[in-house]
Amino acid sequence: MLKRIHHLGIAVKDLELAKKTLEDALGLVTSAVEEVPTQKVRVAFVPVGESRLELLEPTQEDSTVQKFLETRGEGFHHIAFETDDLEADLKKAESHGLRLIDKEPRPGAHGTKVAFIHPKSTFGLLIELVQE
Ligand code: CO
Repeated sequence: MLKRIHHLGIAVKDLELAKKTLEDALGLVTSAVEEVPTQKVRVAFVPVGESRLELLEPTQEDSTVQKFLETRGEGFHHIAFETDDLEADLKKAESHGLRLIDKEPRPGAHGTKVAFIHPKSTFGLLIELVQE
């Protein structure tokens, strides 16, 4: 079952600049940068109340976030819902015809398990399911 919006993913070209801008101009506190090799990105989290932003900077040319930046530019990239049973929610989504990018959970940031659902089957919204 989905519990809350875990984070909003924001694609950026320059992670350090994005961190500094949010800190200086909006007074937000950003986490240390972490590399997520399975997604070919470096990320930093920005807590805001019960949720947070996830700033994503691609580390390789063939990263899906790099392709996103080239075609769509910087900005909103994905919404992540927290679940307490990732496998069950993935099965349910697939049984209702949603196209899974990840049929099996994979490692996410901070020791989480994550899986993505293709935006073609969800009206353009890239959905990430996260289990802590
Ligand atoms: Co994410």
